Order: sequence, then structure tokens, then C-alpha cells
Amino acid sequence: MQLQDILYSQGFGTRRVCAGLIQQGWVSVRNGTAPGDAEHAVCTNAAADFEPEGLLLRVQGVEWPYHSKAYILLHKPAGTECSQKPSTYPSIYTLLPPPLRQRPSKSAVQGVQAVGRLDQDTTGLLLLSDDGQFIHRMSSPKKHVPKVYQVTTKHPVDEEQISRLLAGVVLDDDPQPVKAAACEQTASHQVDLTLTEGKYHQVKRMLAAVGNRVERLHRSRIGALELPATLAPGGWKWLDQDELGLLTRTA
Ligand code: URA
Repeated sequence: MQLQDILYSQGFGTRRVCAGLIQQGWVSVRNGTAPGDAEHAVCTNAAADFEPEGLLLRVQGVEWPYHSKAYILLHKPAGTECSQKPSTYPSIYTLLPPPLRQRPSKSAVQGVQAVGRLDQDTTGLLLLSDDGQFIHRMSSPKKHVPKVYQVTTKHPVDEEQISRLLAGVVLDDDPQPVKAAACEQTASHQVDLTLTEGKYHQVKRMLAAVGNRVERLHRSRIGALELPATLAPGGWKWLDQDELGLLTRTA
């Protein structure tokens, strides 16, 4: 694949911009499988051919491992919106580096997209990708991928509330009851709630339906993938193959 096309696929701008970056000596490459002390080599030929898998790019000083598809985990902080065009709070997309925000569209997927949405005040694990099949698999209610929410409530949680959450509650606009796949009390005002679907404000509405109220909401797990404790709010990381495997495996 030509170096200018590789850069373009990674979101470094139009093909013309990418060719310019290369010709001006801003791009160096290194084979990721080469020994650790191998040097990056500057390449000024925009049409030079490289095998992209495993390639480590450096573009204007920014290290960028080639990824044919983007699978990203973001620790969503409170006070951010999952929309590209937010109404009140900053968009989560501003937390991503420019190449991830500018990745070209792939078939029906317009660049890197959030997999489902969290409310502006919800924190925790959010996935983003430009792989349409992956987005569908992770967000379709039919696939039943469990998502675990740490819920802090206004009032103490009691046995009856837990039983009702597990048995199913009716939400205002929907005659079909929704139930938690699991609900474990972790403190007097806290439960870990596992859901396999993602209706609008579902956790908040379920807690309201049993006479309680959500004070804080944090998503800690999707499938068997936990939000890494080392990733601070606002931080992001690429997901590797093992982590992708955990997403479709239930814990
Ligand atoms: N349920 C909610 O009520 N809000 C979220 O952000 C996620 C699930």
C-alpha cells in the first residue's frame, strides 16, 4: 500500500495533505516486528509501498501504530456529550487525537463513532469504532452483550427494589417490562446493575420505577472487559485482540 494511502487511511488528512507531509520529510516508518531498538526511517516518497499491518508511523513527531480498523476504549468523564454536535457540554470526540477524529468513512460508517451513548453525567467505559459490524454487534439488543453499571442512589436500596429490578419494571412509554440481568448490592446506596439492552436513560428510569433515584452512574464493564483502573477519566486506548475477545465473552 502506498505510504500516502496509509497515512490517509489513518486520518492524517486528504491524500494531498498526506503526500505533502511525506515529501516534506515529516513522516518516518518502522516495522513493528523489528527489534525494539530499530530506528524509524524517514521516507519522502509518497508512493513508496509498505505492508501496513504492524507498521509504526511517526508523523510530525506523533507515534502512530497502523490500525486497519479502529477499536477504541474511552474513559468517559462526566460533563461530556456522546454527540458529534453537542448541545451543552463538550463532545467526547474532542478527547480523541485529530487522526481518530478525521479517519475517513468506511462504507456506511462515518469515521470513528461511539458505540451507543452514555448520558452527559454518566462516566466510564465507552467504545468507539469505525467497524460497522462491530458497532452493530456491540449495540444490538438482540446480541445481549451485558453491560455493568455501578449505580449510586439517593435512597438506600432494599430487597424489594432489587427483586423488582430483576423481575422487570414497566417504563412510562413502553408496555414491555425491562429487567436487569443481575443486580448486586455493594453498599447501602449502591448496586451493580447488569443490563443486556440499552434503552434511553434505562438505568435512571428503572431506578425511578422502583421508587429510588440515580445520583451517580458509572459503566464499569462491557461483556468481560473491565474499564482499566489505570485509565484516568478522559483517557483512551486502542483495544488489542485479547480485549476484543473479552467484549463478546460474558464474565
Ligand atoms: N442508563 C442511563 O440511564 N444512562 C446512561 O448513561 C446509561 C444507561
